[in-house]
Amino acid sequence: MRIDIMTLFPEAVAASLKISILGRAEKKGILDIRCVQIRDYTENRQQQVDDYPYGGGWGCVMMAQPLKSCLDAVCADAGERARRVIYLTPQGRTFDQAAARRLAADYDHLVLVCGHYEGVDERFIEECVDEEISLGDFVLTGGELAAMAVTDAVCRLVPGVLSDEECFTGESHWEGLLEYPQYTRPDVWEGRAVPEVLRGGNDAEIRRWRRKRMLERTMEKRPDLWERRSLSEEDETLLTELMKERSRMKLTEPVECRAVTEADIPDVELLFRQSSNYLKKHRVDQWQNGYPNADTVRGDIERGEGFVMMYGGRTAGYFCLSARPEKAYDTLTDGKWRSDGPYAVIHRSCVGAEYRGTGMSDRLILAAEELARAMGIASVRVDTHRRNGAMKKLLSRCGYQFRGNVLYSVGEGHDPRRQAFEKILK
Ligand SMILES: C[S@@+](CC[C@H](N)C(=O)[O-])C[C@H]1O[C@@H](n2cnc3c(N)ncnc32)[C@H](O)[C@@H]1O
Repeated sequence: MRIDIMTLFPEAVAASLKISILGRAEKKGILDIRCVQIRDYTENRQQQVDDYPYGGGWGCVMMAQPLKSCLDAVCADAGERARRVIYLTPQGRTFDQAAARRLAADYDHLVLVCGHYEGVDERFIEECVDEEISLGDFVLTGGELAAMAVTDAVCRLVPGVLSDEECFTGESHWEGLLEYPQYTRPDVWEGRAVPEVLRGGNDAEIRRWRRKRMLERTMEKRPDLWERRSLSEEDETLLTELMKERSRMKLTEPVECRAVTEADIPDVELLFRQSSNYLKKHRVDQWQNGYPNADTVRGDIERGEGFVMMYGGRTAGYFCLSARPEKAYDTLTDGKWRSDGPYAVIHRSCVGAEYRGTGMSDRLILAAEELARAMGIASVRVDTHRRNGAMKKLLSRCGYQFRGNVLYSVGEGHDPRRQAFEKILK
């Protein structure tokens, strides 16, 4: 496969494409990637490649002549081949794996034209370009990054570039699914173990497990791809199994709630970290400033307000239940508390990553309510970030009502606003 990238910045492009896997494939003669300086093909003394746009307006437009001369030289040098001339532009069809497969399979010479400034003279596109490709619905300064992405994605599909076809046929987007999760050593990292099946050495089981994860991930992460899925009979069987497994994942052993101790702190810190990462991933500006931490738990221990949820001998969740009035709740805006008597507040509630979707969070709220009841308190209050959809769904499921907005002091640069909820216990 020969790829010529026509650009005003050949050195920058070459620096990224002549290394690693593609670099090695080029040395073996499987690939021939050339970065061609468009400026070398100007016919004016100043080597000017752009000029003002007709009709006025901002910026400059790349002239057709240097582009056409550059393209002619490239084509003459490459000779007769199955060639495709592609202009990288935000106006093109969005690039995807199917396009990469088509280009790798149908052509052995791609010419990628990188625009710059305001773009290129339309007449060059009409006259010389076979296809327009976009990297996505955003505007880049130049076509170089897009050309590099196309080159990389196409070249790794060229036979011989990767060690085996399986390297790419099992990857995300090959057949409309995302790839299964990958793990490497150590067996346990930050309290998270590599799934047992991957360590068992049973190839058939590993294959089934991986295929199920592909189905599951695509369903969860990319509903748009999932809608367009085309599943084999085996996939349908695996999907049925997967659905059964997911509904069975509910908790089967007893869950215990007990007071947290100093010895639990490392486990609780892990829960905080997992939750903070989860919130960050879902772009929720909550727990992103070092709170809560080991000292917060120590404070909870001193006041007898911290509790852990234990499942099968493991720390599955944490919360603080405090009967002390919360200062931030004194100035509730856009609403009103349902009761003005004593209340308990749930703070710092979280469950471990592997307990999401198992009902553990619901059990945690119930445990907190039990404790409030035991203290003779009928109103339980809790607040969360307005974007914390998982927490808001949980509260709604457990019968909490939105009562208004409160403000916390959370440190500069973080969102201090929280939505407050209340439930009156029967
Ligand atoms: C600033 S852009 C010009 C955008 C053009 N004025 C428009 O609005 O359609 C300069 C060059 O960057 C490249 N480029 C910008 N965004 C791109 C994208 N999303 N995909 C591929 N190439 C892009 C194109 O080669 C384009 O000619």
